Amino acid sequence: MAYKDIYEGWKKDPEGFWMDAAQAIDWDQAPSKALFDKGDNLFEWFADAKVNTCWNAVDRHVEAGRGEQTAIIYDSPITHTKREISFVELRNRVATLAGALRAKGVEKGDRVIIYMPMIPEALEAMLACARLGAVHSVVFGGFAANELAVRIDDAKPKAIIAASCGLEPGRVVHYKPLLDGAIDLATHKPDFCVIFQREQEVAELVPGRDVNWHGFQYGVEPAECVPVEGNHPAYILYTSGTTGQPKGVIRHTAGQLVALNWTMKNLYNVEPGDVFWAASDVGWVVGHSYICYGPLIHGNTTIVFEGKPVGTPDAGTFWRVISEHKVKSFFTAPTAFRAVKREDPKGEFVRKYDLSCLKQVYLAGERADPDTIVWAQDQLGVPVVDHWWQTETGWAIAANPLGIEELPTKLGSPTVPMPGYDVTILDDAGHPVEPGTLGAIAIKLPLPPGTLPTLWNAEDRFKKSYLTTFPGYYETGDAGMMDEDGYVYIMARTDDVINVAGHRLSTGAMEEVLAGHPDVAECAVIGVTDQLKGQMPVGFLCLNAGADKAHDDVVKEVVKLVREKIGPVAAFKLAVVVDRLPKTRSGKILRGTMVNIADGTPYKMPATIDDPAILDEIKEALQTIGYAKA
Ligand code: COA
Ligand code: AMP
Repeated sequence: MAYKDIYEGWKKDPEGFWMDAAQAIDWDQAPSKALFDKGDNLFEWFADAKVNTCWNAVDRHVEAGRGEQTAIIYDSPITHTKREISFVELRNRVATLAGALRAKGVEKGDRVIIYMPMIPEALEAMLACARLGAVHSVVFGGFAANELAVRIDDAKPKAIIAASCGLEPGRVVHYKPLLDGAIDLATHKPDFCVIFQREQEVAELVPGRDVNWHGFQYGVEPAECVPVEGNHPAYILYTSGTTGQPKGVIRHTAGQLVALNWTMKNLYNVEPGDVFWAASDVGWVVGHSYICYGPLIHGNTTIVFEGKPVGTPDAGTFWRVISEHKVKSFFTAPTAFRAVKREDPKGEFVRKYDLSCLKQVYLAGERADPDTIVWAQDQLGVPVVDHWWQTETGWAIAANPLGIEELPTKLGSPTVPMPGYDVTILDDAGHPVEPGTLGAIAIKLPLPPGTLPTLWNAEDRFKKSYLTTFPGYYETGDAGMMDEDGYVYIMARTDDVINVAGHRLSTGAMEEVLAGHPDVAECAVIGVTDQLKGQMPVGFLCLNAGADKAHDDVVKEVVKLVREKIGPVAAFKLAVVVDRLPKTRSGKILRGTMVNIADGTPYKMPATIDDPAILDEIKEALQTIGYAKA
């Protein structure tokens, strides 16, 4: 069947479509129907089913005779380690870990925070939670203690599972002091912490609170899979909103199982047994959906890669891993390819490896610039698919569904909406616009299975953030257009979210940190275009009258402050001191215009600007840090 027929088929009978897809899942109790309308534009999928994620991702493959197949390949160029874990080993490891968690009181519905680097134990911790019906919340290792504390206070975990350290090139990330600092900062205290001691750094345990990963599993009874309701939260994943308080995106169990499983063949074009690699991090949604759950649910081998696209040890790492482990579908962020391309523009490393196993490549997380796509296509000789999605959706909204058919690529477009997503471009008043016209990208409700049903303990915020601006639609926060052929184009965010090296960050959160500096009276953070990382944050600081510290020192201090409060992942390194910020007469900071000035892109003088002369001052300030080139 062609994509068009499948999409139309879904549109005619959405519930039938998803009930068919649901047949691929092992239910303890099959759903009586697909969609549950809770009223007030809230929906749930397969709510009355009973099912267990870990069973579907692990045990059922063992039962089906695939126990000896490799489930996880760990490849760490940073530690020079390679290891394989079969499905039967994974089942045994996860069952024991779950048993130990249960013995310490973790039950269905309890939250567990996971703060771990890219090691297989991170996936095992996620799966052990899933086995018990506990709700995990993985926190990315590049966040600082304060961000971890905010998540502890919001999720109120019974336990935290952490590693002693993470490893960045040339630097050990001391997880344990960060964890201890976060627990000190947080109001909520976990009952206990499980620490996985890595040999690169052994952490000191807090007596009475911390237990050793291996030690606490001694002698415990392995846990069986606990069936949970279809609408039981599988996890909470915090993502950046417009303020410092992150949004706790919830994923329901059944919808995730059905949707992710459907994507593995139809979108990523892999069969059970094939090797699938997403070079991301378990701390991001890509890691949840396509390092851990998607491939394992579908019976694929997944790769846990602890390294970087370049420098570990060189720009050929991706190709080595693909060739060595026979990767069929590879998923990464455009920024990673830009980093590789910068070091190896002619693809000399590419040709060192036999890449005949590789059939397709997928890019997401930020806009894929045409140069990068063309470079990858030329070097690899396989389809390079740009696909668009968000933490909120958990899987692609728009893509080229290679497992159905390969649609013609249009550079700059992540192709067409996937079944489940009725994508519409709306004007400010909420009316659909003509093809080729820019507008806010919205999705007609209900969203498909596997997408967020609400935010953790924040239903009002959920409605306000996503459902209020355009009644009857989910507001994506992205602006763009659709062409005559139904191809989607993503142009920009409509909010204060920026995308740095494929990482989603809130300029609002950074502004909150800058405003906390005693000399800063007012500030703004914008995302300027960066050749490598897509965007980079730049801060503008107006100082208090009488602040007599050298401007350079204030800049250094705020850079340090953001690193301490948000973390290195914010990549906040640039700030300038200015006398005033450009504003509208009503006092709104003209961030968009500042971005135009920094990027040297044409802009119209905003009609409501208070004092146009300020824009020249902004330009001069940006020039001092290498932006706004004349
Ligand atoms: N734990 C601790 N610190 C981390 C971290 C982690 N898991 N991940 C990144 N950091 C740190 C980095 O060490 C860096 O610190 P520094 O300021 O001391 O150099 C900082 O956070 C910024 O990280 P990032 O923006 O990712 O830059 P990078 O130098 O680590 O790598 C590239 C950048 C160019 C290699 C980039 O192309 C890349 O691969 N980024 C990751 C893309 C990705 O997987 N995105 C996920 C969405 S699919
Ligand atoms: P995250 O929630 O971290 O996955 O970030 C989601 C945001 O990243 C989206 O709302 C987009 O702004 C951006 N994004 C993700 N994928 C793409 C893509 N393929 N093209 C353009 N922007 C993208």
